[in-house]
Amino acid sequence: MHFSSIVAAAAIGGAAIVSAAPAASPVDKRATTCTFSGANGAASAKASKAACSTIVLNNVAVPAGTTLDLTGLKSGTNVIFQGTTTFGYKEWEGPLVSVSGTSITVTGASGSVLDGDGARWWDGKGSNGGKTKPKFFYAHSLTTSHINGLTIKNSPVQTFSINGAKTLTMDKITIDGSAGDSLGHNTDAFDIGSSTGVTITGAVVHNQDDCVAINSGSSITFSGGSCTGGHGLSVGSVGGRSDNAVSDVHFLNNKVINSDNGIRIKTVSGATGSVSGVTYSGNTLSGIKKYGIVIEQDYENGSPTGSPTTGVPITGLTMTKNTGSVTSSGTDIYILCGKGSCSNWTWSGNSITGGKQSTKCSNIPSGGAAC
Ligand SMILES: *[C@@H]1O[C@H](CO)[C@@H](O)[C@H](O)[C@H]1NC(C)=O
Repeated sequence: MHFSSIVAAAAIGGAAIVSAAPAASPVDKRATTCTFSGANGAASAKASKAACSTIVLNNVAVPAGTTLDLTGLKSGTNVIFQGTTTFGYKEWEGPLVSVSGTSITVTGASGSVLDGDGARWWDGKGSNGGKTKPKFFYAHSLTTSHINGLTIKNSPVQTFSINGAKTLTMDKITIDGSAGDSLGHNTDAFDIGSSTGVTITGAVVHNQDDCVAINSGSSITFSGGSCTGGHGLSVGSVGGRSDNAVSDVHFLNNKVINSDNGIRIKTVSGATGSVSGVTYSGNTLSGIKKYGIVIEQDYENGSPTGSPTTGVPITGLTMTKNTGSVTSSGTDIYILCGKGSCSNWTWSGNSITGGKQSTKCSNIPSGGAAC
């Protein structure tokens, strides 16, 4: 990036400095709203972001193979998406958008869409092969921040990667990948790792992989959401990464619809780590194809082995008032624990019906759980 002043960036990039700060406020000398749009909007925003207290991204067309780079924003920056944000096509890892900073608020204006047009990459192989597909949105290293009201359509592959967050709320996020039901794959909505204090409320998701997957972190709540078409509300797989502890997680009052799984905890075979203090309560399942509730300690290279190991204990699990239905070819509940590696579970008021009863459950702890 060449050096350019804000004004130069505005001239080159079609950005407009809409309002300048009243000089009277010594508290915030940067009360400056910058609006970026069109094909040069992303480059201009990257060049000028540190000088703006509000960044408006109005119908930005992000060039192929580049990130809409909103990393390292000044503390207190507001980012507003307006209109349709589009992305050029290239086979690459992404991300298409990246935001980091402290006290950042990212908002989608009414009617705004971030449109990944994932069909250009979708080949049914997701991140396991075929075209290299960009991840959509890195929310990495966000502290005391908010992401509100974004609508993301047709992610090429995984959508939100939330990592290194400390106190992040995400309210009313819509992730609509319904067009990918035949060829979209690994289009996880929210992947969370190494984060503390993440609260996601009222998300509406239609995708083809986990609605939420928590690999590590603590004090994480996902509530009042609706998840359609994917793999459900997941912890894991836990183990085999640099951070392998999950604690104090709450999935509350969500709907999981026409998905492979409803509720899932999976830990990695032969690995070490811990899953403690996870609560699933008040979740409603319908049209679940594989497992209503599945808890298994046998994952290896992304697949179950059928032989659980004990290195990632699942303790302090609370499963209450989860109800709903599994299709007749699916299984209501499957619990595969190693000897002694599941303990201190509370299980009450759950009613999962319609599917088969598993005959392969093992080492179910006391506390009411049953297959
Ligand atoms: C059992 O789990 C609950 C819920 O997470 C927790 O509050 C409690 O401390 C645990 N008890 C023991 C003995 O670990």
